[in-house]
Amino acid sequence: VSEAGRGPEIVRESDDEPRVLVVDDDEGFRRGLPVALGRAGMRAIGVDGGAAGLSVLERDPIDVVLTDVQMPEMSGPQLLERIKAAGYPVEVIMMTAFADITTAVNAVKAGAYAFLTKPFVSNEAVVLEVRKAAQHLRLNAKMRRLERELSARGGADELIGGSPSMRELDRRISGVAPVDSTVLILGESGTGKELVARAIHRRSRRASGSLVTVNCGAMPKDLVESELFGHVRGAFTNALQARAGLFEAADGGTLFLDEVGDLPMNAQVKLLRALQEGEIKPVGSDVTKTVDVRVVAATNVDLKSAVAAGTFRQDLFYRLNVIALRVPPLRERGDDVHVLAHHFVRSIAERAGRPPPRLSAEAAACVERYSWPGNVRELEHAMEHAVIFSEGETIALSALPAETRGEGAAASEPAVTSVGPKASVMLDLITALGLQEMGYADAKKRILTDFNEAYVAALLDSAKGNVSEAARRSKLDRSNFRRLFKDRGGESSRRGSSD
Ligand SMILES: Nc1ncnc2c1ncn2[C@@H]1O[C@H](COP(=O)(O)OP(=O)(O)OP(=O)(O)O)[C@@H](O)[C@H]1O
Ligand SMILES: [Mg+2]
Repeated sequence: VSEAGRGPEIVRESDDEPRVLVVDDDEGFRRGLPVALGRAGMRAIGVDGGAAGLSVLERDPIDVVLTDVQMPEMSGPQLLERIKAAGYPVEVIMMTAFADITTAVNAVKAGAYAFLTKPFVSNEAVVLEVRKAAQHLRLNAKMRRLERELSARGGADELIGGSPSMRELDRRISGVAPVDSTVLILGESGTGKELVARAIHRRSRRASGSLVTVNCGAMPKDLVESELFGHVRGAFTNALQARAGLFEAADGGTLFLDEVGDLPMNAQVKLLRALQEGEIKPVGSDVTKTVDVRVVAATNVDLKSAVAAGTFRQDLFYRLNVIALRVPPLRERGDDVHVLAHHFVRSIAERAGRPPPRLSAEAAACVERYSWPGNVRELEHAMEHAVIFSEGETIALSALPAETRGEGAAASEPAVTSVGPKASVMLDLITALGLQEMGYADAKKRILTDFNEAYVAALLDSAKGNVSEAARRSKLDRSNFRRLFKDRGGESSRRGSSD
């Protein structure tokens, strides 16, 4: 059990100007571009041809490669392929004449960052594209580093929390992992049963084998048997080919039967046999196969009452229940709730490329007070909500989901300002436009363009098409209004022609 580090850590990658390599057989570009990029503060060199480019990449740290598409020895796409194969940490921008746009588009599919058409609109456009590429590169490097840090800290799927009940669970996982016995993991929904199963696999001698996860509740009932044990050709109407089952896929590794309580009866019989004999029989076959599989099962229903109700075989229950691990609900883990909350806030913020905000005292108190019936999963979702709905450095109470705040809040808290319709309309808009996938600046620019357009349209509408009246109502001075008005026109006509 590892604890997530405390305290937000603001990561700054180097903000140095990008180092650029220009590859072009045209001497004009090869010389001119580096000069223009150099004027923008970048360090850039130009070389003739892909081979020369590769030898620069071999010895110099480069961030962005600008390459022509058509060159005599090695084409731009070929150079891109070589760069990708060698794994140089660079972004590649293709420069192309209109004629080979298709090539350029394919290059982008093959991993180029972007393409620019020659002749360039302006040198500024090139500078801007190179900056964007370099920033993209930096963000990716940062992400990879964070991922590495996280896995050095015990893995993205390590169980976080140092409360006594979690320490005890951790100790028991380490105890049962190396032996091959079947383990039954019990616990409420969202407590981390799947993580426990993965930890068992990872700490076992089967770690290098595969961990095959089967959600017993999600399989169509009449296919469960063949999914688990395979079938021979012609075993049933659609069995045109013999197929191995998941037991075989897990041979030498671990089979995780999630929601084992949902297994239909016929599959239960076969599972019992597989557990007892280490043998499986594909559907429609008389021949048994030996498999070396360790079974870990999980359930959030009470199997004993399922046995009493006749939906779960008693003998299978005993066979599975040899070693039972109970994953405690979050409300029994004391301070872990804060450690986990902090961990989720940080990883969610970092995934979104922003510095992690801090929970305000009121928000932290609410996290502590709430009973988290959905356990860790609910906490994770609540923190996601909180990060999305907070803008600055702190997460206000109002950024938490309403149901989280609701519980017991009335007595001790002032009336909670709920997230009004405005915020959710904005959120809908953000997700509809996919802005969460963009950098902040791009996202803002995108939404501002749409806003300006829609605002002017609505304004004109309410002014019954009278432009001077619209200008007056906008309270902008005339030149600003004219710009807004024109921009909107330019925007829509450009869109109209290119799309
Ligand atoms: N101790 C923990 N540390 C970090 N993350 C955790 C921890 N426990 C659970 N999680 C995260 O919470 C989420 C739910 O965990 P998981 O899917 O393992 O729960 P579960 O018990 O299998 O739930 P269900 O019964 O609904 O299938 C996952 O995203 C998981 O990564
Ligand atoms: Mg689960």
